[in-house]
Amino acid sequence: MKILVVGGAGYIGSHMVRELLDKGFDPLVLDNLSTGHAWAVPEGRLIEGDLADRDGLDRLFAGHDFGAVMHFASFIQVGESVTAPLKYYQNNVANTLNLLSAMERGGVKRFVFSSTAAVYGTPETVPVVETAPLRPENPYGHSKLMIEQVLADCGHAWGLQSACLRYFNAAGAHPSGEIGEAHDPESHLIPIILQAALGRRDVITINGEDYDTPDGTCIRDYIHVCDLASAHTLALQALLDGKGSLTCNLGNGTGYSIREVIEVCRKVTGRTIPVATGPRRPGDPARLVASAGKLVTEFGWKPQYADLESIVETAWRWMMRQF
Ligand SMILES: NC(=O)c1ccc[n+]([C@@H]2O[C@H](COP(=O)([O-])OP(=O)(O)OC[C@H]3O[C@@H](n4cnc5c(N)ncnc54)[C@H](O)[C@@H]3O)[C@@H](O)[C@H]2O)c1
Repeated sequence: MKILVVGGAGYIGSHMVRELLDKGFDPLVLDNLSTGHAWAVPEGRLIEGDLADRDGLDRLFAGHDFGAVMHFASFIQVGESVTAPLKYYQNNVANTLNLLSAMERGGVKRFVFSSTAAVYGTPETVPVVETAPLRPENPYGHSKLMIEQVLADCGHAWGLQSACLRYFNAAGAHPSGEIGEAHDPESHLIPIILQAALGRRDVITINGEDYDTPDGTCIRDYIHVCDLASAHTLALQALLDGKGSLTCNLGNGTGYSIREVIEVCRKVTGRTIPVATGPRRPGDPARLVASAGKLVTEFGWKPQYADLESIVETAWRWMMRQF
């Protein structure tokens, strides 16, 4: 079955393409390469194009018989979304509407969407369940929640079946070492720490050490990018089996503090990692850990990289190969 992977040249999308190939699907990538990389897409599977190009989207759907669309293309930097909200609403909302309109015209009714834990804002209770209040605290989170609402409305109006997958922190790299995280600038914790371990960055700054957590630093849930991709296949299969639209957290259900992540990186790399302390960032919750119960019980998801050390090992292998 042919699957359109929008944003498939990016970090998570490129791992999804590998997973789809492993599972016998026929993925085709649409990507404008604004933050993604042509080298991350297997030969012959990349169509360079932009979601802003509505005619291009219509031609794409007219020319292929897609069984489903998986949508990874968006801007992802929370801080930038605060200073440049229109850039985020334009790409993450307006361009996604272009995609959904083209799907409606093209008669494609299955959609897997990269949502985010940012839709919860600062959660009242942790681990966070899918029914927790939705209170995003920045334009990035708002943009994702808006699309979740759009998807529900399209479900009622024209039968769109969608999976909203709320990722916690994606991390790690493909075990082959061929693809991994390559954002510029890098805003995610583990690659930033590993850059410091490699000497490509002087120091890693911890934003706040006075949170109400055992060591004072923020606690987050890290999920390996291949485990994230396998969860997408389970969600896609549920849509293909006619089980209806769904919303699910994608996380391991285990939290690690920033200090703990740095320690694991020191252990895995055997390198010195200089650390400094900076002020808190506004809107950073002390704890953000998923309840992974729904993913495990309803979809039978089993992570291959449940512990942080194995996640960091794959990221380190990827980094060493790059530099
Ligand atoms: N990385 C994480 O930890 C994380 C956490 C929560 C949610 N997400 C979501 O997962 C998705 C993928 O994240 P990622 O880390 O792989 O990001 P990424 O920047 O590596 O990948 C996004 C891809 O989309 C492409 N793209 C962007 N705008 C486009 C457009 N208008 N037309 C065509 N292609 C376009 C980019 O070129 C890139 O290849 C995003 O939607 C993000 O919000 C990621």
